[in-house]
Amino acid sequence: MAEAAIELRNLKKYFNVGKGPGGAKAYAKAVDDITLTINKGEVVGLVGESGSGKTTLARVILRLTSITGGQVIFNGVDLAKASRDDMKKMRTDVSVVFQDPASNLNPRETVMSSIMRPLVLHGTSKAEAKQKAIDALGLVKMDTRYLYSYPHQLSGGQLQRIAIARALVMNPKVMILDEPTSALDISVQAQILNLLLDLQESLKLTYLVITHDLNVIRYISDRIAVMYLGRLVEYGPTEEVIGNPRHPYTKGLMAASPILNPHDRGKEKYMMEGEPGSLINLPTGCHFNPRCPYATDRCRSELPQDVRISPLHQVACFLQEEFSIDK
Ligand SMILES: Nc1ncnc2c1ncn2[C@@H]1O[C@H](COP(=O)(O)OP(=O)(O)O)[C@@H](O)[C@H]1O
Ligand SMILES: [Mg+2]
Repeated sequence: MAEAAIELRNLKKYFNVGKGPGGAKAYAKAVDDITLTINKGEVVGLVGESGSGKTTLARVILRLTSITGGQVIFNGVDLAKASRDDMKKMRTDVSVVFQDPASNLNPRETVMSSIMRPLVLHGTSKAEAKQKAIDALGLVKMDTRYLYSYPHQLSGGQLQRIAIARALVMNPKVMILDEPTSALDISVQAQILNLLLDLQESLKLTYLVITHDLNVIRYISDRIAVMYLGRLVEYGPTEEVIGNPRHPYTKGLMAASPILNPHDRGKEKYMMEGEPGSLINLPTGCHFNPRCPYATDRCRSELPQDVRISPLHQVACFLQEEFSIDK
């Protein structure tokens, strides 16, 4: 039986965005009622168009922003009820790498002091922290001569390696990687992805990797989670989601990817209609219904709940109800 590293239960994060029509408070429901489990040792890829709430989800898990509702359960402990010690442990057990190296590293600090900082903040001696910084640099395959470099002296790929080294220095069990390669050149992207996969295996890490790049997702993930306007629409094993997407939005995403479908050139295919909607003026019913070729009256009035269609595969679509294994 797989053990859960992170469980999200009906997780919500709403941002107050002023007044709506009639003076009622308006919210951007960036994360809306998301329930999913990430098992230990699993690589989960989270995909969705820009503005769908992926970064917000990461920030809620990391407690970089408050929760509006629901629960984040880490290693069986509900973080809302966690003791100070549990919370402290969670902060070292879960680390993060953001897309933009500039937001990961302080431009006025050397590589060494950037990597050492989390350790020093946790009371590790300078000498030990220095040794650990050297070890971490080894893990990301960088020479120790870079210890005295400043961020502006390094390439994008090198900066991302340093950010990964710093994320590893506290011996985390879970890493959240938000668009870790999106700012890099293609050739460098592959190196960083391979490095991340090697580290995941050798250190037995659990990853949540956020990206809008389906090719990256397919390459690295065991399971794929798909978000659309704040909601999780599909979550399942990579081969199932890529090979046989079940939610109409996932189908649209897959069909729109030329790299996933190199033989489809010139063939007619299912193309998603319309622009991605806005979190502020959400339609009633399923958020995807205005773009969905299968939408019915029910889809325009009722929000679909998650349907389990295989033990590790859930889809939030009325069309899948007949395939539920929980019936
Ligand atoms: N600090 C904030 N204040 C108000 N709204 C926010 C804030 N952060 C995010 N949002 C809203 O959440 C939406 C989703 O943002 P984000 O999580 O960054 O999406 P993604 O990472 O998928 O591109 C944004 O389009 C915006 O409407
Ligand atoms: Mg983002």
